[in-house]
Amino acid sequence: MPRRRMPAEWAALAHRFDEINRQFIDYEAQVGFLLRCADRFLPRLRCALDLGCATGLHARALARREVRVAGVDLSPRLLRRGRQAAPAEGAPLLICGDLAALPLRRGFDLVYALNFVMSFLLTNEALRSALAEVRRVLSPGGAFVMDYHYYFPPEAGSGLREGWKEDCVVAGRRLVVSHDPTVDWRTQLCTDEMTYRFMEGRRIAREVRSREVRRISLPQDLACLLQVAGFEILAHCRRFDLDEDPQETGVLVARRGIG
Ligand SMILES: C[S@@+](CC[C@H](N)C(=O)[O-])C[C@H]1O[C@@H](n2cnc3c(N)ncnc32)[C@H](O)[C@@H]1O
Repeated sequence: MPRRRMPAEWAALAHRFDEINRQFIDYEAQVGFLLRCADRFLPRLRCALDLGCATGLHARALARREVRVAGVDLSPRLLRRGRQAAPAEGAPLLICGDLAALPLRRGFDLVYALNFVMSFLLTNEALRSALAEVRRVLSPGGAFVMDYHYYFPPEAGSGLREGWKEDCVVAGRRLVVSHDPTVDWRTQLCTDEMTYRFMEGRRIAREVRSREVRRISLPQDLACLLQVAGFEILAHCRRFDLDEDPQETGVLVARRGIG
């Protein structure tokens, strides 16, 4: 299997992953969404799998609600941070592995991949293998929740064309994250050149540069791919509201088909 290249920030800033990501992502709200999906579409939720779990922020929150959770991620550093942060009792099992060849057996009621994990599968082959793996490890009738990006010109948000900055405070220091994305519409890949600058007053105390390449998916095409991979679409909605249509990002909830 080809070695996958990971964006530099996940290694260089692994020790700050939780703090940085909590500034931009409402993990409790996303876990609430997963629980609403489970209430609506599953007879029970005993066992869940977090794909691209990083430090396991969703997994730890679900484990606190007495769901047995496993997480898979490529990054040993992020997994190590997650294991250190998890409570000894009921801690999620965090495993190093690739989505395209999951080191797990079948038996999960819910599998989820949140904050654009599936968008990092850049080739059709990688995405197809990962979907086949999700189907393999889901219990019959189990549900899969994934979010994804879609932007299409000319409607693409001006942020995507011109770049943008995010500002927050991490470890008592101002952190400015700059995004400079370009999209290749032939391959539907968006390359975001990112710079993390930790500031001390007006001085840059530390700078980390990183490049994230993500797949952009069109909603109908992605739904079709899931159907071909043996899923039934249960909901296709806006992040993270089951009753709203998708906008520039979407969430797909699908059931493992019979067979
Ligand atoms: C944007 S982060 C999201 C992390 C986590 N889901 C969250 O919301 O905090 C994407 C994660 O996917 C993981 N990842 C990307 N490609 C992967 C692959 N092929 N197999 C396993 N993990 C992968 C990365 O290591 C990274 O931790």
